[in-house]
Amino acid sequence: MIRIDIKNISKKYDEKSVFDNLCESFEAGKVNVYMGPSGCGKTTLLNIIAGLSGAHDGRVVFTDEISGKEKTRKDIKFSMIFQEYRLCENMTTLSNVMFACKRKQKSHAMELLEELGLKECAYEPAGSLSGGMKARVAIARALIADYDVMLADEPFTGLDDTTKRSVMECFKKMTKDKTVILVTHSEDEKGFFDGEDK
Ligand SMILES: Nc1ncnc2c1ncn2[C@@H]1O[C@H](COP(=O)(O)OP(=O)(O)OP(=O)(O)O)[C@@H](O)[C@H]1O
Ligand SMILES: [Mg+2]
Repeated sequence: MIRIDIKNISKKYDEKSVFDNLCESFEAGKVNVYMGPSGCGKTTLLNIIAGLSGAHDGRVVFTDEISGKEKTRKDIKFSMIFQEYRLCENMTTLSNVMFACKRKQKSHAMELLEELGLKECAYEPAGSLSGGMKARVAIARALIADYDVMLADEPFTGLDDTTKRSVMECFKKMTKDKTVILVTHSEDEKGFFDGEDK
């Protein structure tokens, strides 16, 4: 299980500063809910953690909670749910999900699609799906991958309350003991993952 410490990260776009000496800690083996106003840099931080974007100063430290040893980014398997989904629109729902796992996991992929209410559209091109369906395909693809750290950028946005509840249950079950950073604007989601939800 990997713990993530953000140590004095500074980031600018041109001359505009997004972070100046940011420090944060994300605990190993749990869903860490990360909230903040629009534009404060949540997506930027996830990209820096994943190595998709650089920081001007500071470090991201990954620590194996069991051994206490520091890990390099290349030793860690990341899974990401992008805010804008980033699906392959001309591939089917199933192919998008299979893209992240081994061929022999097809039955597992179908089970997951069924659990997320996507079984009926398994063979539809992702580009033809509604926004809420695309959101669930992005979730399924991220959940089925082999990963140590999951970076999830507002994954449940656009889902109706009932669907969201069952998708969050599935997400909670499948990310058990993994290090997850969940970006959200929703107090309900925070309550659900922090265990305050009844
Ligand atoms: N590629 C870029 N070039 C220039 N500025 C950028 C770029 N990406 C992000 N920014 C700026 O950095 C700041 C943080 O953006 P970011 O997308 O990380 O915010 P966010 O907290 O994820 O917002 P939201 O809640 O709306 O998704 C914003 O002011 C944004 O305009
Ligand atoms: Mg964002």
